[in-house]
Amino acid sequence: MDQNKLIITIDGPAGVGKTTMARKLAKHLSVAYLDTGAMFRGVAWKLGQDAWLKDEQSLADELKKMSFTLRGQGERSEMCLNSVPLGPEIRTETIGLWASNIAKLKVVRDFLKKAQQEIGQQTSLVAEGRDMGTVVFPHARYKFFLDASPEVRAKRRYLQLKDMGQEADIEAILKQIKRRDDQDRNRAIAPLRPADDAIVIDTSELSLEDVLACLLQHLKPAIV
Ligand code: C5P
Repeated sequence: MDQNKLIITIDGPAGVGKTTMARKLAKHLSVAYLDTGAMFRGVAWKLGQDAWLKDEQSLADELKKMSFTLRGQGERSEMCLNSVPLGPEIRTETIGLWASNIAKLKVVRDFLKKAQQEIGQQTSLVAEGRDMGTVVFPHARYKFFLDASPEVRAKRRYLQLKDMGQEADIEAILKQIKRRDDQDRNRAIAPLRPADDAIVIDTSELSLEDVLACLLQHLKPAIV
């Protein structure tokens, strides 16, 4: 990996605010923002509900038809699947669950890891996901792991969905968040966990501004 590229990783569970934080940070640092959840969601959306039950060869054949590119920088970074930007269609809780289902599969993880590392070789970035610090960018210069209670995360996700004009039921979201946490933390490959050298921040009691200030404090040496 090119040592001059600045790679910052932000990992954490669903609804913890990684996306918002990664976007803000990328804007602040004028680097690209890599939303790896969008890549898992994009694959899940393209393949459909029960794709994770298919055999490895047919999944590999499907994946060969997909290519991801990252356009733009900062808040305007845009993840494209086969040259088409991924939009709100992948942002539902249902697609989130489908994504979590296919994220257990080695064939999918290997495919996306390669795509993510290729993007990381081209540009400095803030990479956000579940295994950025542990698996995809183990040599990242800065690694953060954001956490918060499932209840706090469900409330944040609820407000986010409302904001996007989507129907939302907070109890259903909480149930899905817990189910996704369980799948993401306990899967055999690349489970959700902080890297040994990650800075862990519990954001339950913090505002977005507080979290950003905390990240920037740690990043001071890279900024000046
Ligand atoms: O972050 P987001 O909620 O968009 O991710 C959707 C799902 O994709 C997660 O629940 C997780 O199962 C999977 N994912 C992953 N590794 C990543 C990013 C997302 O397994 N780096």
